[in-house]
Amino acid sequence: MAEILVTEVGGKVGEAVELKGWVYNFRSSGSIFFLQLRDGTGRIQVVYSKAEMPEVVWNDLQKLTIESSVAVSGLVKAEPRSPSGVELGGTGLAIVSVAAEYPIGKKDHGPDFLLNNRHLWIRSARQEAVLRIRNEIAFALREFFYERGFINTDSPIFTPNAVEGTTDLFEVKYFDDKAYLSQSGQLYLEATSAALRKTYCFGPTFRSEKSKTRRHLTEFWMLEAEASFMDWEENIQLQEDMMVYVLRRVLDRRAVDLKTLERDITTLQTSAQGNFPRVHYTDAVAQLQKLGSDMKDGDDFGADDETILTKQYDRPMFIHHYPAAIKAFYMKPDPSDPVHVLNNDLLAPEGYGEVIGGSQRIDDVTLLEQRIAEHQLPHADFQWYLDLRRYGSVPHAGFGIGLERSVAWICGLEHVRETIPFPRLLNRLTP
Ligand code: 4AD
Ligand code: MG
Repeated sequence: MAEILVTEVGGKVGEAVELKGWVYNFRSSGSIFFLQLRDGTGRIQVVYSKAEMPEVVWNDLQKLTIESSVAVSGLVKAEPRSPSGVELGGTGLAIVSVAAEYPIGKKDHGPDFLLNNRHLWIRSARQEAVLRIRNEIAFALREFFYERGFINTDSPIFTPNAVEGTTDLFEVKYFDDKAYLSQSGQLYLEATSAALRKTYCFGPTFRSEKSKTRRHLTEFWMLEAEASFMDWEENIQLQEDMMVYVLRRVLDRRAVDLKTLERDITTLQTSAQGNFPRVHYTDAVAQLQKLGSDMKDGDDFGADDETILTKQYDRPMFIHHYPAAIKAFYMKPDPSDPVHVLNNDLLAPEGYGEVIGGSQRIDDVTLLEQRIAEHQLPHADFQWYLDLRRYGSVPHAGFGIGLERSVAWICGLEHVRETIPFPRLLNRLTP
């Protein structure tokens, strides 16, 4: 008998097969036993009939508990009422391990309980779907950059200095010295892009932000891309192409998972057509003020502002030319309007807000030194970074996309805590 996966059952109607997995649910009517099996690739119902069963099999079925691990054998049958179109007529059962009473039941559990049991919660159908979509997005991102000729050069995690501001650094002991966990791989990527032209990194990123919001993790994954001779407008186009590529891939390959999540995919489909609006910071502020926000020119957008603004559009939108005063030290001022920088954020629709931050970088060594001083960053630590402007400086630009925020939007989730296998939050380090 062939051992197969649930994803392979569809084409095997009429055949005898064996499946290995876990019992995620069961019920018995006395003469019929319905075993709901999940095997990590999908879910299927196995129907056992007492009349047709050797007594030992029937007795073993009575020993099953939720999440017991089993090998089942049976005949594949077409079943139009099942979501997958098939079920198994059970013929055999081998118990691998009878599970103790499973803590996650059918009743509504609070988020804290579920997070405390995250190691088990990930087995639920919804969490499985989210993690598959996460995988699809991460893999599509890598493929997109591979196809575009970008070289993956990962940046170090132990770093001596800040990139995105000094307030949210995680400090760790480093032998007799100290180090910081990386807030962004960007500075190193600027070095590798001067070597390899187009580069990207994809890794964990750490920020000790004391924000308890639905968008913040203390450890998250960010893909950052950087290219020599790319200006801020080409940078924006690259971001749009990348997002379109990812959306098409997920819509194409993860339709079943989106359905499990009951995701309304209308906005995802619209977004997959591209043509993302591009709005100047100053125009975005004016638009928000008209919508009733008390935001002033020069302020950064709050999460509420982003939500209000993105609800005006049916697809992601770029905001570009933020005030230099509220942005990172390395962003290049617009030569014709130096109050604003050649940067952009990409805000996801449906109230999700910022998923990408990017900019053209300062390529002038004197200006960069000045900015480093203004931001009170340690001059010595930035000597190698300044070297990139001393030895063959070129216009260059790049961006970073947050994986978890992208997963949250694409899956339509309330909170980023469900977008990563084991979330790290202000008040959570376990399991
Ligand atoms: O806008 P950020 O801070 O940009 C950078 O780090 C640049 N160095 C990127 C670059 O130009 N190479 O962060 C980029 C993205 C955000 O748009 C968001 O999606 C995600 O990283 N992000 C977070 N995701 C989850 N939790 C947090 N605390 C996050 N902080 C940023
Ligand atoms: Mg940002």
